[in-house]
Amino acid sequence: MKVLIVGSGGREHSLAEAFARDINKSDIYVAPGNGGIALDYKCLPLRSKEEIVKWCKENRPELVMVGPEQYLAEGLSNSLNAEGIPCVGPSQEAARIESSKIFAKTLMTKYHIPTASYVAFEDKDQALAYVRYMGTYPLVIKANGLAAGKGVIIADSQKEAENAIQNLGNKIVVEEYLKGWEVSLFVITDGKDYKTTIFSQDHKQLGENDTGPNTGGMGAFAPVKEAEHYREQIEKQIIAPTLEALNAEGCPYRGFLYCGLMITADGPKVLEFNCRLGDPETQAILPLLQTSFTDICYAILNNKVSDLELQWSPQSSVCVVLASQGYPGTFPTGFPIIIKSSIDSKIFYAGVENRDGQLITSGGRVLSLVALGKNLSEARRKVYKDVNKVDFNGKYFRRDISLRKNKL
Ligand code: AMP
Ligand code: GLY
Repeated sequence: MKVLIVGSGGREHSLAEAFARDINKSDIYVAPGNGGIALDYKCLPLRSKEEIVKWCKENRPELVMVGPEQYLAEGLSNSLNAEGIPCVGPSQEAARIESSKIFAKTLMTKYHIPTASYVAFEDKDQALAYVRYMGTYPLVIKANGLAAGKGVIIADSQKEAENAIQNLGNKIVVEEYLKGWEVSLFVITDGKDYKTTIFSQDHKQLGENDTGPNTGGMGAFAPVKEAEHYREQIEKQIIAPTLEALNAEGCPYRGFLYCGLMITADGPKVLEFNCRLGDPETQAILPLLQTSFTDICYAILNNKVSDLELQWSPQSSVCVVLASQGYPGTFPTGFPIIIKSSIDSKIFYAGVENRDGQLITSGGRVLSLVALGKNLSEARRKVYKDVNKVDFNGKYFRRDISLRKNKL
């Protein structure tokens, strides 16, 4: 059994680990992976969609699991399916739920799926005229296309709104600001049936107490017990109608769907959909998964999601991202990563290269550490103990992962 995981971050490292519970490590390939993942798995120097399709045609993996959204937005799933290669990830058409904010917002409005009210613009000047007319803040300004978590600006003043619009290009969505607390939920679906995972919570802002710029995610934890109260409502009002809507629009969704939610005083509302698993939420939830991840992928591919029974460990998990000083702006790289003594947490590598046998930093989010415990405070205590044992020049991390008060 040969499996290919596409992507190069901590999420993909944790996916490799999940497959390794069922499959020999030597049969797990990651493209392109990174120097840290390559310590345990075969990494292939494939970057473009074309390179990946070519390798798959020649090597015929039994299963391809796509991590990042870009490949799905470019139609990697379509190309692989056309070659008869099983790919876990939605088609290009279904991936528009993430790759086009305007598609996602139009769909939600048409099918009455709760989300922030919005106005879409094709022209910067019209967006500028609109925010000047509105004059109420905060307002949320979003770029239409993929922006790696950096295409959203919460503007607190007209000046900030105008700057955001100038920087984000012509296709822009201006949204109502939602107040509440955020939670992430993953949906496993074959297009007909679905199952949802445990809830997790990302910490997107760079600074403690949720301050500073948005990042790709500075840490996560799972489960989020306070969110359970809303599960039925979320499934009934959001998940089921969204999957039905995609079917009705002729683009059934197969794969993992990430649902970013705001729990507001008026109930749960969609902040965004992503056409893939989240990073770093995946690193937090997969270590708690007791069902075989390979079986989950096959349930998606074989239209058997209705038969799937998900089992989770009763433990909690906390994931802390170690980043390079300067991220999400510019930052120097090339610093040796030193692990001072043996650590109990799992290490999932992201922005890492191997230079002559020494791991060095090569990206903004360098690695994530994940610890499990009988409850969140135990998991947190364990992970932060290990954070101190990993060092590199300019190491930056948040000290408050999993401490957020999820209250209205
Ligand atoms: P997105 O990439 O759309 O999830 O946005 C990134 C982050 O911006 C979200 O995780 C929220 O913290 C915040 N955000 C996005 N849209 C809104 C909104 N309408 N109201 C309040 N916060 C938002
Ligand atoms: N953790 C946010 C994301 O994966 O988009």
